[in-house]
Amino acid sequence: MPKAEDSPGRFVHVWKAGRSERTLLLLHGTGGDENDLVPLARMLDPDAAVLSPRGKVLEHGAPRFFRRLAMGVFDVEDLRRRTHELADFVASAAAEYGFDVRRVVAAGFSNGANIAAAMLLLRPEVLEKAILFRAMVPLEPETRPDLTGRAVFLSAGRTDTMIPGEDTERLAKMLGDCGASVELQWSPGGHGLAAEDISAARSWLIR
Ligand code: MLT
Repeated sequence: MPKAEDSPGRFVHVWKAGRSERTLLLLHGTGGDENDLVPLARMLDPDAAVLSPRGKVLEHGAPRFFRRLAMGVFDVEDLRRRTHELADFVASAAAEYGFDVRRVVAAGFSNGANIAAAMLLLRPEVLEKAILFRAMVPLEPETRPDLTGRAVFLSAGRTDTMIPGEDTERLAKMLGDCGASVELQWSPGGHGLAAEDISAARSWLIR
């Protein structure tokens, strides 16, 4: 019998009802879990509802949202499948908890930002906006989605040794070419999040 985390369509997750129409979809980095980014959500928008799933892939025991073959080299078939599974989970959670998928803002870090970017490219209907901390191009879509009306904030670290800056720039351009309104901001730091990443994302979200 599969463990709950392995059951098709189901994710171990945190749900917190909010006081506004917005739902923050929190997507943790490699080795994180569903609790990691809850304090970040409170800093981004204390009134938003929170939906925070745990990635189901285990890499030497570390949860992730999709498989990789090496550092920065993704198993694209697995990524595609898991992107659709996550998008389906968001849609079914919307029906279960009664939130509006047209008001979902993904906030992802590293591996979580990469699957959020894949959702924008493959299943944009479940996201209104996305905050991508330390993201790279997750895949090249076969057909270009229409991201008109979608807004994306990317925050990259100038001294990030895991995510090459050119890769984040390529992602920003790809999303912009699909019609999204894109803002890319650079932090002086590396892969980890700093206070300025969070305050810049918050200003972008609430403006
Ligand atoms: C990924 O695998 O998504 C990226 O290399 C970033 C990470 O390790 O989380």
